[in-house]
Amino acid sequence: MLLRPVLALTAAFAGSCDRSAEPAYDGPTYHRDVAPILASNCGECHRSGGIAPFPFTTYEEVAPLAATIAAVTGARTMPPFNLDNGGTCNTYVGARWLDEDDIATLAAWAQAGAPAGEPSGEAPQAPAAWQLDRVDLTLAMPEPYTPDDSADDIYRCFIIDPGLTEEAFLVGFEVRLGRPEMVHHLTLYALDSEQDEADAAMLDAAEAGPGYTCFGDPLVPSRWLVGAGPSDRGRMLPAGTGLYMGAGRKTVLQMHYNRSQGTFPDQTAIDLQLAASVPHEAFIERVEDPFLELPPGQSAVVEIDTRELREDFTLWGVWPHMHGLGAQLRVTAERPAGEQCLAQVDDYQFHWQEFSFYERPVRVHAGDTLRIACTYDTTSRDTTTTWGYGTADEMCIGFFYVTEGFVPGSE
Ligand code: HEC
Repeated sequence: MLLRPVLALTAAFAGSCDRSAEPAYDGPTYHRDVAPILASNCGECHRSGGIAPFPFTTYEEVAPLAATIAAVTGARTMPPFNLDNGGTCNTYVGARWLDEDDIATLAAWAQAGAPAGEPSGEAPQAPAAWQLDRVDLTLAMPEPYTPDDSADDIYRCFIIDPGLTEEAFLVGFEVRLGRPEMVHHLTLYALDSEQDEADAAMLDAAEAGPGYTCFGDPLVPSRWLVGAGPSDRGRMLPAGTGLYMGAGRKTVLQMHYNRSQGTFPDQTAIDLQLAASVPHEAFIERVEDPFLELPPGQSAVVEIDTRELREDFTLWGVWPHMHGLGAQLRVTAERPAGEQCLAQVDDYQFHWQEFSFYERPVRVHAGDTLRIACTYDTTSRDTTTTWGYGTADEMCIGFFYVTEGFVPGSE
């Protein structure tokens, strides 16, 4: 019984007169533990010329931010990703998501005073940019566009004619941003009728300069084709699927510019890979609550709507969409056997919305009820907020990338 305190005392004594015997710090260090986490999870944006306001490439840049990095990763505001990728409600291809161990490492490192440790070899690099292996068509903004200074965030739509003489299916895309530090995200939409094209042309003609102002979507009936979030180079759409592009039909490219790092002329282009046919034509379906009416001054207003399915579908991806008051969003499929979670957003950031594809496609069945619940914080408002396209209006939509029937590999 007496042995323990004696031993402890001996150890303490030995430590105080022989410094070399002091237990060395064996917690996380910058070079060994932190730099690799930052390179692979943050480096795509936090590098020079990237969309984030400061780079994380050297110890000197990162160390002063250790506590902030621990805080934002602990709260999961960085890396930015709206959907819950934790595994209880699906996981997503290429999700920007730290695992719990990495969050703990960053916290322990900040707690220990951000020790540098010893560099070993080359500094870790952010993963190399992905590239399309074949380009069939390039859609480019017709001329450079310089956003005006009316706001920090500018949404501008440009009509682009792909010049397709035959119908085709979009199967992959690669984005070539003009000014990456100013482009927050882009979305390419198909126009499916002459009327929609004429309406878009009218909006374009009504404003000076190339394109027209368009918050949220192109303001005319349109169909999603391509979406790329910040720093996203592009991807192949899920194998065996593709999106229809009509012969002779036009497209609209919506650019979301963020001017926090400066204002420049931008001329962005998108390379497309096309197929003459695909085994499974994909569609964009939605669950939404277009009748929402949000009373002001409340920290949590919940809007719920449902939609009953008449057919079997395979769901490949989801894009949760609300505007600036949106806080949480959840989409489920309800059936007698129970509830299946399709999408969960715990801390919605308008800035970071985009399409994400499931690692495992999900089956929903004829007879299922799809249910969407959107939660809003209206404490900043003093009048009722309703559905609409404006920045001050709201929406509650789950867009889904779907194919008809069940596809092998889905569950
Ligand atoms: C997809 C791009 C992107 C990725 C990936 C990303 N960031 Fe950021 N980060 C930004 C942008 C842009 C900002 C500027 C603020 C904003 O727009 O939210 C920012 C801001 C920050 C800030 C400042 C926040 C504040 O409150 O002042 C910190 C700290 C940060 N990021 C840490 C990280 C860390 C750590 C990672 C990786 C684990 C990471 N970020 C990954 C884009 C990114």
